[in-house]
Amino acid sequence: MTLNLLPASTADYRRLAKQRLPRALFDYIDGGAYAERTLAANVADFEAIALKQRVMRDVSRRDARISLFGEDWAMPLALAPIGLGGMMARRAETLAARTAEKIGIPFCLSTVSICSLEEVAKAATKPFWFQLYMLKDRGHVRDLLARARAVGVKTLVFTVDLAVMGARYRDMRNGMGGGLSRLGRLRLAADYAAHLPWAYDVGIRGKPHVFGNLASYVPRASTPADFGGWVAAQFDASVTWKDIEELRRWWEGPLVVKGVLSPEDARAAAGAGADAVIVSNHGGRQLDGVSSSIGMTPRVADAVGDRIAVLMDGGVRSGAGILRALALGARAVLIGRPWIWALAGRGERGLSALLKTIKAELDVAMALTAAPTAAAITRDVLDVSETPPGLAQPHLTLAKNGASDGTRTRDLRRDRPTL
Ligand code: FNR
Repeated sequence: MTLNLLPASTADYRRLAKQRLPRALFDYIDGGAYAERTLAANVADFEAIALKQRVMRDVSRRDARISLFGEDWAMPLALAPIGLGGMMARRAETLAARTAEKIGIPFCLSTVSICSLEEVAKAATKPFWFQLYMLKDRGHVRDLLARARAVGVKTLVFTVDLAVMGARYRDMRNGMGGGLSRLGRLRLAADYAAHLPWAYDVGIRGKPHVFGNLASYVPRASTPADFGGWVAAQFDASVTWKDIEELRRWWEGPLVVKGVLSPEDARAAAGAGADAVIVSNHGGRQLDGVSSSIGMTPRVADAVGDRIAVLMDGGVRSGAGILRALALGARAVLIGRPWIWALAGRGERGLSALLKTIKAELDVAMALTAAPTAAAITRDVLDVSETPPGLAQPHLTLAKNGASDGTRTRDLRRDRPTL
């Protein structure tokens, strides 16, 4: 038992977020689709990749910086788009943009953020990224792109893995989709009220709780629930690679396609004019049972890595995770849950401390695998004799150790079918 005075790891920030947030909000961040097997695999498969320690190689100079999309990054890490961020910490998206800027990494604003493009732009002094969901009303899409351009966004992230929405059982159980009895609504309200610091800081002082980017298109909506129905009806399941070609004509800056999980789709994205893909299964929130992101990263990188940049997200919880992803062919990674846990748990200073911790850990991992620059991180930093063969031929591989970030990996592993 330690004093636990200061959070150190991603898992610590998750614990703090759990204490501070009303249950339904914590579960919204933490949960995944259906039985959460892909969510667990995202984390567990990272941990199963053994690193190869190398010594006596003069690693006195180390440099994790990269350049991508015309930007200089302090390390190969960006903050992934998270919907409803401003429900977890007061005006969370402005805090994230500011913190990312101070550390020197990109922040990507979600279409369904609480803070609008314009509000984030006021808090930031450098361009941030914008993530777009294709809406049925292309007029709104054109308008959103024009607004993004007007506030200086250069990099557009187009998310393609939400043609329909996967069910998240935790959200259903918590009544996030409605359908609660009167007693259920009372219990929900009581839980919100019981989290007093959140209720005062975010619930009251953090208003308005609207989808900032969409508010002008849905003028009568005033709560996230009002927007939820509109957004669900606006998601366009008819989108194809042709739409990316069209988007390519509308957007002159870097275009990043997020949510690709196969070499075939990565090739199609490159063919449609994307500058990069993000290997992603939406943090295990869409189709449960698909492979982990890190499991698919080498195959996507082998397929298109020489034509476009391959990024990945899902399960990155540490600086050593960044090193593993780069070793398997990613140029950079994104984190989703960790940044919102840190903001929810400890605000801006929490996120700042977490990013510094991740950077320091990456630095140690680079030093002790004798890969002192991002470019020097190759498959040589991995101990392939110790890494499950599933990561070369990826499936839902079994981790040797349980996840250290608190996701329910151990329980799930027991349930997981052997593949
Ligand atoms: C997401 N993600 C997401 N992606 C996106 O393109 N637009 C969005 O609005 C959201 N919203 C969102 C909300 C929450 C609460 C989570 C956890 C995730 C997916 C996100 O960008 C990213 O792909 C995953 O979070 C990466 O996995 P990790 O880092 O959370 O394991």
